[in-house]
Amino acid sequence: MSTLFRTRLAKEFSDRTARFHTSVVEDLRMFMEDVDGTMAHDIMLHEQGILDREDLVKILAALQQVKQEWMDGDIEVGAEYEDIHEYIEARVIEKIGIEVGGKMHTGRSRNDQVMVDMKMVTRKELLEIMINLLNLVKIVCDVADQHTETPMVLYTHGQQAQIGSYGHYLMAYADQFLRDYQRIKECYTRVNMNPLGAAAIGGTNYRISRMRTSELLGFDSIQENSVDATSSRDWAVETASVLAILMGNMSRLAADIVTWSGSEFRYIELSDEYSSSSSIMPQKKNPSTIELVRGKSAEAYGCLQELMTMVKGLPTGYYQDLQQTKIPLWRAFDTVKTSVEILDGAIKTMKVNKDAILAQTKGSFIYAVQLAEVLAEEELSFREAYKVTAEVVNALIADGRTLEQLKPDDVKKAAKKLFGKDVKVSSGIAEKISDPLKALNNLRSPGSPHPANTGMMVENRLELRERYWKELDFLKIKLVIAGDNLKNALQTYSS
Ligand code: ARG
Repeated sequence: MSTLFRTRLAKEFSDRTARFHTSVVEDLRMFMEDVDGTMAHDIMLHEQGILDREDLVKILAALQQVKQEWMDGDIEVGAEYEDIHEYIEARVIEKIGIEVGGKMHTGRSRNDQVMVDMKMVTRKELLEIMINLLNLVKIVCDVADQHTETPMVLYTHGQQAQIGSYGHYLMAYADQFLRDYQRIKECYTRVNMNPLGAAAIGGTNYRISRMRTSELLGFDSIQENSVDATSSRDWAVETASVLAILMGNMSRLAADIVTWSGSEFRYIELSDEYSSSSSIMPQKKNPSTIELVRGKSAEAYGCLQELMTMVKGLPTGYYQDLQQTKIPLWRAFDTVKTSVEILDGAIKTMKVNKDAILAQTKGSFIYAVQLAEVLAEEELSFREAYKVTAEVVNALIADGRTLEQLKPDDVKKAAKKLFGKDVKVSSGIAEKISDPLKALNNLRSPGSPHPANTGMMVENRLELRERYWKELDFLKIKLVIAGDNLKNALQTYSS
């Protein structure tokens, strides 16, 4: 049992209690960040005249060794350590003694330390998810661009509703994913504020520089108030929440893909590498990877719920409860990151069966709105036209006919019957309203599935994505520069 922090206590944890209490397992994910955070802190302590150069050099060398041991897979951290912070400090002290190694943690607490580590990991994960997400947007736009003129039935209430196009449908998801990107990016700016230097809750007597550690660790600013910096986890809740929203969006697209993979639709066929089969039914080709994208959205929601429950009603200040926040956050990262990749890969490799999508529009009454709108251009109010159209639809269904077989007389009869009105109906009415491509091209409202609208949306969203991609490059470069700053400083104090 390490005794670094238990001097005040007469008894050790039992093995069971130690295992219950430790966070070393989830802490391993922030091992490198923890070492970097300590290095930056100690460099700053020296620059502020708090730590001698000679001591700093020894501490940094010991920390480098610990880092190397970690990279070599050469360490074993068990429940005898409360957390990775204790392990690393104990290792440094083991290497260079408590007189010098014991200065490593000057002017700092594990409370601000763990926050820095978590935020550095979160930052990295959010960046990766943003990259994956923009890749997904790209493939969705590219496929949409090929299908601006692929007529498709749109559904409401699970019933055939209006004419649309496969490309326009996909662009609805491009827009949702772009908003997901915006939410994550906004969240990133709130995550990337430096809590280090807040100490346990109330700061320190040492004249530390929080700006300097921000610079060395790539934070945009400090999370100023020391109570806030150590106590709050709203940024973690926000992270889980923007990820949960993203998963919710993906799960709906996934639901469509699963439905459309079925032989009743055959709109799309997933590639074999994203499909599975059955242990008994030899004919099966299941879209199970996509089912899991939908299924795993529950996991992301669960992580958010877990985090919100952990912080709800927690009094101000650090409580051990907060140690648990890492677990759902890490799970959310893993699940969401992979789900975006899977969806991206599945869309990239799946076949789109244009004919099957088009076939579904045949014999459908999805043009009824457009028929009513055409009729309302003349002698009828929209509601009259609506009623006339409903009458026509009923009559056609009773006759076993479709809108493609509509005759001007059908409309005239209904108008006369319902309103005693004689309406003019062109002989080409059936074709005018029920030819899928014509129907798409008759749409005039902005944002509708008119092929030109969809084409413009694709172009515009790809441009937006390009801008976001550059923005991301900038965020990445800022972290690289910070890494260089730290490396240079380490170089300076290498002997
Ligand atoms: N293992 C803890 C965590 O993960 C470290 C933070 C502070 N611990 C403490 N006793 N104040 O949150």
